[in-house]
Amino acid sequence: MEMLNVALPKGRLGEKVYGMFAAAGFECPEILESSRKLIFENEAAGVRYFWVKPSDVAIYVARGAADIGVAGKDILMEYRPEVYELMDLGIGKCRMTVAAPEGFQEDASRTLRVATKFSRIARDYYAGIGRDIDIIHLNGSIEIAPILGLSDVIVDIVETGTTLRENHLEVREIVMPISARLIANKSGFKFKREAMEKLMTGLEGQKA
Ligand code: PRP
Repeated sequence: MEMLNVALPKGRLGEKVYGMFAAAGFECPEILESSRKLIFENEAAGVRYFWVKPSDVAIYVARGAADIGVAGKDILMEYRPEVYELMDLGIGKCRMTVAAPEGFQEDASRTLRVATKFSRIARDYYAGIGRDIDIIHLNGSIEIAPILGLSDVIVDIVETGTTLRENHLEVREIVMPISARLIANKSGFKFKREAMEKLMTGLEGQKA
């Protein structure tokens, strides 16, 4: 039987996703025995899972190393990978926002300095509202940029709001809602159609 290759985002979201895939008939119990192993296979169920960095899932899927995977809408908007977006799984919900230090007063006559990991999303958002900006691309800990005067605002993901609160920042604008999406390799979608249909039907019934 042909195996369905699945790229799972390492971490809490990925464990939730595995639970949904297992309930859809693609079990691989060994994956739950915590270990440092990264690849797990259940030949009988026709599935092979591998744990990858969440921001890399779409790369594996786009290049066909995985047939299917789960990636945040933020990653799909930022990197526009050549994949099919099959389904909104209704989990991993958060928001892409503009945040600033509490009480920050924007000077509309000046170029706004925006620190972010999501340069394309930020650029598109500000282009849409006709605001001149300077992008400062960072790779993490975005919240400290405005505190240290590196930027005026940040464009970043907010889930519970704890990170902002603990760093005395606040949400100013909502750029877009984010959630986890099921994505597929374009040719895998044709050639492994049967397994994909079975998976999608199984997932459809469990959507949050
Ligand atoms: C995201 C985001 C915030 C945090 C928001 O970081 O960049 O720092 O989560 O969550 P909260 O609103 O629940 O506090 P992530 O964990 O993805 O790590 P990274 O940006 O440092 O890579």
